[in-house]
Amino acid sequence: MPALAHTTRAVARSWTAHQLPVARASCAAMQSRNLSEVSSTTSFDTPFRGAGASSQVPSFGAYKSKRSGETGNRVFSYFMVGTMGALASLGAKNTVQDFLVNMSASADVLAQAKVEIDLAAIPEGKNVIIKWRGKPVFIRHRTEDEIQEAEDTKWESLRDPQSDADRVQKPEWLIMLGVCTHLGCVPIGEAGDYGGWFCPCHGSHYDISGRIRKGPAPLNLEIPAYDFPEDGKVVIG
Ligand code: FES
Repeated sequence: MPALAHTTRAVARSWTAHQLPVARASCAAMQSRNLSEVSSTTSFDTPFRGAGASSQVPSFGAYKSKRSGETGNRVFSYFMVGTMGALASLGAKNTVQDFLVNMSASADVLAQAKVEIDLAAIPEGKNVIIKWRGKPVFIRHRTEDEIQEAEDTKWESLRDPQSDADRVQKPEWLIMLGVCTHLGCVPIGEAGDYGGWFCPCHGSHYDISGRIRKGPAPLNLEIPAYDFPEDGKVVIG
């Protein structure tokens, strides 16, 4: 250590008076240059690239301005799509409403949906089939024996319990839809095990009151709305 101190002092003494300002000026220049370099870089100088290596963070100004422009366009697009969707929905609603109003039946069309039948043309013990609203309607002019049989049936234990009195307004006239309650076939009259109607599709038997007695059908033949406006006439519907 004494030898090193002696050498340092010797070097210091070897500097001339005019050499010291030059050295100070060089140091100042170096410091100035380093500061300018530092100011042109960022605090994100990575320690992984060696001393003095640095990576500059790119400027995102252009990107941000572009993004803000895109956001504005997107908001405008959403607004336009939403507006056009609302207008289209309104138009569709009005169109459907007009269509339904035009399609709804008027009073005269509904009146035609009623069918008047002259019962005098149907002899006792006979069936007729009329078409009403696209469906067959059975009208049976029942005999006294048939009426008696229908009324005597123990209906409480039937699959679809219903008394004969609940199915007719006048005992001699049985009026019902000719549509099997199983899958909609048209049963055959005066057939089956109960003297009423038989559906050949899957073998359902209905009695003389139109009640299901055997086979897969779950319900009795349906009774439509009807009334007798006068003797000898019935209006269905
Ligand atoms: Fe009549 Fe099946 S449709 S029994």
